[in-house]
Amino acid sequence: MKPVQIGIIGLGTVGAGTVNLLDKNAEEITRRAGRQISIKAVAVNDTTKQRACDISDFKLTDNPFEVTDDPQIDIIVELMGGESTAREVALRALEHDKHIVTANKALIAVHGNDIFDVAMKKGLVVAFEAAVAGGISIIKVLREGLTGNRIERVIGIVNGTTNFILSEMHKKGSPFSKVLAEAQRLGYAESDPSFDVEGIDAAHKLTILSSIAFGIPLDFDSIYVEGITDIHQQDIAYAKEFGYSIKHLGIAKQHKGKIELRVHPCLIPADHLLSNVDGVMNAILVHGDAVGPTLHYGAGAGAKPTASSVVADIVDVVRTLTTDPENRVPHLAFQPGHLSHNKCGSIGDVETAYYLRLLALDRPGVLADIARILGEHKISIDSIRQKGTSSGDDPVSIVILTHRTIESQMSRAIPELERLTTIKEKVVRIRIETIDKRVQTN
Ligand code: NAP
Ligand code: HSE
Repeated sequence: MKPVQIGIIGLGTVGAGTVNLLDKNAEEITRRAGRQISIKAVAVNDTTKQRACDISDFKLTDNPFEVTDDPQIDIIVELMGGESTAREVALRALEHDKHIVTANKALIAVHGNDIFDVAMKKGLVVAFEAAVAGGISIIKVLREGLTGNRIERVIGIVNGTTNFILSEMHKKGSPFSKVLAEAQRLGYAESDPSFDVEGIDAAHKLTILSSIAFGIPLDFDSIYVEGITDIHQQDIAYAKEFGYSIKHLGIAKQHKGKIELRVHPCLIPADHLLSNVDGVMNAILVHGDAVGPTLHYGAGAGAKPTASSVVADIVDVVRTLTTDPENRVPHLAFQPGHLSHNKCGSIGDVETAYYLRLLALDRPGVLADIARILGEHKISIDSIRQKGTSSGDDPVSIVILTHRTIESQMSRAIPELERLTTIKEKVVRIRIETIDKRVQTN
């Protein structure tokens, strides 16, 4: 059989990693795909730039549409990132009857419904394994391996950059900005790293995971998002004293006919396996009603792990070239006409426990005022610790762990606490997540 011709858009961290992997493992990949995979053309912004891969075997252009429109190319591999040009590239590729492989979570989370619609009508495949959790095959697991289950929840560390930053702050006490620069140097961060540290990248990934897990349309806007920019070294240290670590989690739960979708930092028990997922590693806990808890672990970013998923998708598309469109695995796991429209709940309805840190003057009655306000909002204190003492006007930190309460009660209590003349700064609030105890280290 003649080789399958692919065109790649983008030759940065993931693009160069993909070219290198296709070259290094060419023989094994051909044995698996049943056909040789040949790169015909690659588009970049700057054709004069030094590349981390051999560029002598294909045509290099600065016009992505030259690649999408090339009649000899069967598959377009979109590795340029971003939303608007990537959307144009994807739609143009489909218009020219090309299958697509992409690592672009922003593209899928925000424009996926429209792109899949066009692809379905044309009988084309859009594969996006590398878009979520880098080298972990979580899309395949949810879409195929767990297809007999009703998925109850998906909870995971899905952004390598934030996990790398939190791990380095925790283990080495390194400052936030220094670790972020290191994550950028290693190729983990997005081209705009605020997408990582503000939680947007994790929300893109949770949008995709929740859609495939629960059979709902992609809806990025329904996700509650917080990043890690307000997490301080001292919160990591205090959490540790209480037996917790701080992780940035994506949480998708289905219960009582509603779906809860949120991305934010959480305190989780230090002996839970997720607490021990460090650096750029990602881990996703999927709970199915038949299988129970399953944990999927691996590198969440970086050239080689991400290329591993991109190449797996290319091979999958090559294999499906001979399958009837109606017999293929659906893009979002459920058949297109069978996506449900379960309501996504608001963050105010979420029930969880909290870590609070208040900077307060060390005066008689301060603790009583705090306890009174929390009590008036039906928030019960689990434990409380004052960090240090002060005889003068220097404030001290007071750390409180609460029992589970409703988020809207907490959102009403915090401004009242902040209005006390003895409270000196914004109250730090981090949610404490209860996760499956069967996935603990002891
Ligand atoms: P990157 O290093 O910034 O590379 C982007 C590439 O796209 C560059 O080669 C750039 O060209 C090219 N490009 C940008 N705009 C273009 C345009 N208009 N026309 C032609 N080429 C264009 O990004 P990356 O880290 O490889 O990420 C690529 C995608 O993979 C993103 O969607 C990202 O979210 C996703 N992803 C990344 C990772 C990771 O670990 N990095 C993991 C999973 C998924 P120049 O080189 O000439 O500037
Ligand atoms: N910037 C992303 C991360 C790349 O750090 O997880 C992988 O999707």
